[in-house]
Amino acid sequence: MAKRSKQWLQAQQRDQYVKQARQSHYRSRAVFKLRQIDQKEKLFHPGQAVIDLGAAPGSWSQYVSECINPQGRLIAVDILAMQALDKVLFIQGDVTETRVLDACRQELQNTAADLVISDMAPNLTGIRVTDQARSMRLAELVYDFSCDVLKPGGDMLIKLFQGEGSDEFKKELMQRFQKVIVKKPNASRAGSREFYVLARGYEV
Ligand SMILES: C[S@@+](CC[C@H](N)C(=O)[O-])C[C@H]1O[C@@H](n2cnc3c(N)ncnc32)[C@H](O)[C@@H]1O
Repeated sequence: MAKRSKQWLQAQQRDQYVKQARQSHYRSRAVFKLRQIDQKEKLFHPGQAVIDLGAAPGSWSQYVSECINPQGRLIAVDILAMQALDKVLFIQGDVTETRVLDACRQELQNTAADLVISDMAPNLTGIRVTDQARSMRLAELVYDFSCDVLKPGGDMLIKLFQGEGSDEFKKELMQRFQKVIVKKPNASRAGSREFYVLARGYEV
């Protein structure tokens, strides 16, 4: 397909996702990225305990909540405020602050999590090296936290940006997870460096 036609098609699809999110009850088009990954990978099941990092405005939390409830547990964290969602425990704070992830651990009440998902992206400065370094620092933090709270066999889904450190990070994950898969759902813009890493089967 010619580049211009492809760009046009992608723009249409983007609009479609925005429209679909508006028409449905979802708060953001980001939900379609998670749903497309889940449709292929079957991540969510009733009764799971899930932690959603960088959750606002809340479309991932909405989707996960639908998949895991009535018996599931969902803890959502964001530095921004988030409108309340039924059956979602929300913690407002910056995950780089120890107290915030400690609050998450406390809410888990000595049970381990089935999944940690992170759609976090740092505030962009426009300086690519700085933005990439910040993004990788967030990813490392999510990885460390996941190693602490995941149950054996648990999964982790993290948003990354292609660039310095992302390949090494994937290799690092392979040491602690049985399978590491790169996901670029259709709802994620093809021109964006954004992609997701799904690490499955945590080995304690
Ligand atoms: C792309 S949005 C997430 C969208 C969300 N998945 C949804 O479906 O509605 C990324 C979020 O990460 C949050 N974030 C970025 N850095 C953070 C940090 N250090 N601590 C907590 N949240 C953070 C931002 O505030 C933002 O709301």
